[in-house]
Amino acid sequence: MVSEDPTRKSLTQLGVTDAVELSLRFHELRACFQRDLARAKESDKWEKLREEWTGSGDSVESRIRENWFRTGPADLRSVVAQYLDNLINEIFIRSTVLRPLRQLGVSHQDEVARQFAKLKQLFDDEIQNCTDETDLGVSRIEWLGRTSGVLTLVTNNWLKSAPPELKRVVGTEFNKLKAHVENSLDAWRATIDSRTGASRSAKDRVDLSLPGVIRPFGTHHLIRQVLQEIEDIFFSIGFSVVEGPEIETPYYNFEALNIPEFHPVRDDMDTFYLELPKGAPGPLLLRTHTSPVQIRTMGKRRPPVRVIVPGKVYRRDNPDATHSFMFHQIEGLAVDSDITFCDFTGTIDYFVKQFFGENVKTRFRPSYFPFTEPSVEFDASCVFCGGSGTAKSGGTCGKCKGVGWIELFGAGMVDPAVYSFVNYDPKKVSGFAFGIGIDRLAMLKYGIDDIQAFFQNDVRFLRQFP
Ligand code: FA5
Repeated sequence: MVSEDPTRKSLTQLGVTDAVELSLRFHELRACFQRDLARAKESDKWEKLREEWTGSGDSVESRIRENWFRTGPADLRSVVAQYLDNLINEIFIRSTVLRPLRQLGVSHQDEVARQFAKLKQLFDDEIQNCTDETDLGVSRIEWLGRTSGVLTLVTNNWLKSAPPELKRVVGTEFNKLKAHVENSLDAWRATIDSRTGASRSAKDRVDLSLPGVIRPFGTHHLIRQVLQEIEDIFFSIGFSVVEGPEIETPYYNFEALNIPEFHPVRDDMDTFYLELPKGAPGPLLLRTHTSPVQIRTMGKRRPPVRVIVPGKVYRRDNPDATHSFMFHQIEGLAVDSDITFCDFTGTIDYFVKQFFGENVKTRFRPSYFPFTEPSVEFDASCVFCGGSGTAKSGGTCGKCKGVGWIELFGAGMVDPAVYSFVNYDPKKVSGFAFGIGIDRLAMLKYGIDDIQAFFQNDVRFLRQFP
């Protein structure tokens, strides 16, 4: 069991208020048990495992009975009891079928039959609790699953290693159990199907006096919320949204953006190429940035162009706290007959102030992108320490590392070479472009220190951003 053991706390302390949260807690416990089980198997410490999980002393089971069941909210008690029953059954089954019969002290034919009878009883109890197809599916995998289903484990651990004098009876008992499990699962499915049919016709008789069913509302994911916030800011100054494909050709992703083959910048955007059937025109890749949509848009429209392009992009980056192999960008592109560098910096400054607040300052540093000239990297004064580099508590600000500035995104004036790919006259038009990493911007604004949290779909994280 882990040291931060949730069973030592009450459900109230854990913030568990409904059956969904409770099921998550039991799900975590099951994962924890699986780890302990693997360890017990390795070190052969079965008794210790039993004591820790279901022993009569300070075991997981007794703590759940005391902290979650006895003192828990009345409306959750029956759910706790049922989940606990399931957990105990699983503990018993798994710690039994993973050991050879010899280790379980079984040396006589009658004892073999008794072990199988116990398993059968546990299966029957479990299946009685199945109320719908999902439960039934879970039980089917648990018992008949090919690699770690109970029956496979019985074959591997009981049948194969059975001593010669017991082999026949183990084989017979096994076949009986297998037939029972398969037949019961089929029969129970038919019962559930007919019940669903019956309850459907009962449901047709609507009782309007009954209180309604309260279904919790979902909310937008934080990335979607931030994206909408960014879109609204750009809508307010005349930009519109366009979208492009996530599967791109190297031409749009690289060449038309002035990145010829073997250009070193391609190394920074290593990507995933698609495996195509023989003879299919290709190659195709998952776009590494939203910039190809600049080309697609200019290819279709004459200036003035003022668009933003939100979407998913992909890179062969190893996942860490600030990198993901799939992330979100929003591209901006403005091209017209008289766009200047001042328009460019003014637009970015307006966006940053709207997004982070009026007091945030911006600055830019020279950078390099093959499709912009000059290219810059925009920084914002650190939103955590107000640009001072000193944390409120007195030490160095951990977010900007004492510099007072945080790097935001890359941008620049569109390189005239790009216009030649879309038949714009570089002497008559000018413009700017930028590419914002939405995930990193969201991390900055909401103080999130691991980008992976966006993609793990842990409801406890997501619920913090209703
Ligand atoms: C580009 O992708 C350029 N297309 C941006 C651009 C557009 C420049 C238009 C000029 C004109 P860069 O590789 O720096 O640039 O990525 C842009 C942003 O994406 C970064 O600032 C960062 O916020 C985000 N980003 C890059 N790689 C990852 C990653 N693996 N995981 C999460 N975010 C990332």
